[in-house]
Amino acid sequence: MPKKILITGGAGFIGSHLADKLLQDGHDIAVLDCLHPQIHGPNPKRPAYLHKDVDLVIGDIRDEHMVGAAVQGKDIIFHFASHTGVGQSMYEIKEYMDVNVQGTAVLLEAIQKHNSSLQKLILASSRAVYGEGAYHCHTCGVVSPKPRSLLQLQASKWELNCPNCNLSLTPIPTPETYPTDPRSVYAVSKLTQEHLCTIYGETYKLPVVVLRYFNVYGPRQSLSNPYTGVLSTFMTRLYNNKPLNIYEDGQESRDFIHVSDIVQACHLAMKTNKANDQIFNIATGKSITLMEIAQTVTQQFRGPSPKTTGQYRFGDIRHSVADITKAKQLLGYFPRVSFADGVVELIEQAEFIPNEDLSSIAEKELQIRGLSKPD
Ligand SMILES: NC(=O)c1ccc[n+]([C@@H]2O[C@H](COP(=O)([O-])OP(=O)(O)OC[C@H]3O[C@@H](n4cnc5c(N)ncnc54)[C@H](O)[C@@H]3O)[C@@H](O)[C@H]2O)c1
Ligand SMILES: [Zn+2]
Repeated sequence: MPKKILITGGAGFIGSHLADKLLQDGHDIAVLDCLHPQIHGPNPKRPAYLHKDVDLVIGDIRDEHMVGAAVQGKDIIFHFASHTGVGQSMYEIKEYMDVNVQGTAVLLEAIQKHNSSLQKLILASSRAVYGEGAYHCHTCGVVSPKPRSLLQLQASKWELNCPNCNLSLTPIPTPETYPTDPRSVYAVSKLTQEHLCTIYGETYKLPVVVLRYFNVYGPRQSLSNPYTGVLSTFMTRLYNNKPLNIYEDGQESRDFIHVSDIVQACHLAMKTNKANDQIFNIATGKSITLMEIAQTVTQQFRGPSPKTTGQYRFGDIRHSVADITKAKQLLGYFPRVSFADGVVELIEQAEFIPNEDLSSIAEKELQIRGLSKPD
């Protein structure tokens, strides 16, 4: 049966891919999106990549009137509208809390007032809610280390030590049961979104699914947004013939997931009742170091070899990899795109790369505030 589906923030990177998939399946798709200039450029208009059958309503997630109208008659809502820059959230504190938290509050109140037949709400959350995530100590077992101090970073001691015995730690996949430890305003806002949606679901008997995405990449990720992820930054620098400078020693690691696998997970979360009232990590379960990423991207551009600079950003986590057992078991989710394949496709298909290194704008904002060590 075709369903009426609303995707908030659906004109962005992930939401637009999800819209394509749901339209293929015959569903009706509406998007509420303010086309924020940081993502969509200074004179935003309907993105060319957004499928022509998407009913786009241009409006703010905090606008009660527009959100009230948008939720009416919908069967499923995907809530994606958010600001997403971790570093930027540390100084645009009010704006991040306003859009991400107040926006979610407005959405929930609108559902309560205008849609008593909603079947499911699916929230895009983030790995950021874990902070450093899980580590293993040879003597103490699984431990939750504190984030690295400024003193430790200044001494170029990159790896984490055991909070009990001070031995060096090995990162291990973080499961959903691991305690949350948000370490940025962005992370606090995403965890608060989770709590708001979960409490709403329990109170009003609405099935809620929380998906914690790890590092997502793929076509349509905004390259004009200086706060977008490291892969966009790398591509933009190489396109402008600049070598890649890697923070710390390049051995910091992440779990990079292709957007098509995120879409797969969203689709499964919508279809199966086993997903209801659950939280899932959505990732590959494999870690890749920043140096490996830099080398793969550099090879594609035939650029100069990447270098480590010993720079750091206070608050950056060291390692991050997901345990995806739960998503495999309950959703039947299985990541399909390897990083090597996904990156080649991304670089081949990249259409718009601005002719200036916007990442340095983001970097300068952090340096001014003492949140990053200058070159
Ligand atoms: N991309 C990632 O690596 C990643 C990782 C973890 C979680 N997430 C989450 O996934 C979701 C989608 O992220 P994305 O990467 O597609 O980001 P994106 O920036 O490409 O898309 C977000 C969309 O939200 C819109 N938006 C921003 N403020 C709004 C407002 N006030 N009202 C209405 N719309 C607004 C923007 O215009 C944009 O189109 C977000 O909730 C994000 O927190 C993304
Ligand atoms: Zn120990």
